[in-house]
Amino acid sequence: MEKIKKTTEFLKEKTGFTPEAGIILGSGLGGLIKSIDVKHSFEYSDIPNFPVSTVEGHDGKLIFGLLDGKKVVAMQGRFHYYEGYSMQQVVFPIRIMKMLGITHLFLSNAAGGLNRSFRVGDLMIIKDHINMFPDNPLKGKNLDKLGTRFPEMGEAYSRDLIEKAKNIAESNNIKYHTGVYVGSSGPTLETPAEYRMFRILGADSTGMSTVPEVIAARHTGLTCFGISVITNMAVFDEGEIGTSHDEVQNAAGEAEPKMTLIFRELIKNL
Ligand code: HPA
Repeated sequence: MEKIKKTTEFLKEKTGFTPEAGIILGSGLGGLIKSIDVKHSFEYSDIPNFPVSTVEGHDGKLIFGLLDGKKVVAMQGRFHYYEGYSMQQVVFPIRIMKMLGITHLFLSNAAGGLNRSFRVGDLMIIKDHINMFPDNPLKGKNLDKLGTRFPEMGEAYSRDLIEKAKNIAESNNIKYHTGVYVGSSGPTLETPAEYRMFRILGADSTGMSTVPEVIAARHTGLTCFGISVITNMAVFDEGEIGTSHDEVQNAAGEAEPKMTLIFRELIKNL
């Protein structure tokens, strides 16, 4: 809690900014950042107590600015559990964004498609998630100042924002699905048997992020909205051919503007 307070004070002092919404964008999905009228930008390595990136060239930025007139704080680059961070480190920025004043958190991720009706490049509005990480960011002593010991997860993803997002997609002719995201640690992709298991469990997309962040966000009372961009389809049978790397990259690039449009419209109308 001390660390959270100190880091929040540092950022408040430097920016004098009270953001309304927090934004975390998935791999290859950072285009939204270009639409932000940037007021302040910090390298993660310059923010006290922020997790230090161990991977060279992977240093991210925390950006404060205006998006269509709304005050936002955006993470350019997120912390993944598979990189070796603890769950507490992965969700540290969520807690800082909350203390800075955000009420809403918007997240995107690149994900594998488990639902057979999905295609590479599709968008899936996340309506719920399954936590398959071997850990939980709320484990250990509860930070009572942030939230309760046993947070309720019945509406992890805001039904109101989901309905609004569907309307935005429909009025802009954007194809979308809604579904359940399953998060697991990675860094390995799934074996065919694991993809089949996730499907049987009721998930429609799978990836290595979002779940810890949403858990920490809900703990502290933030309203969440998330989109998966389907970058590859699950390989369910040993003989099936997976998505090529080129396809994955193209998929993210093609889907990104559609996702960005939905985020912008939602944020504009908060
Ligand atoms: N599995 C896990 N994480 C992913 C995938 C996948 O198929 N695609 C993109 N992120």
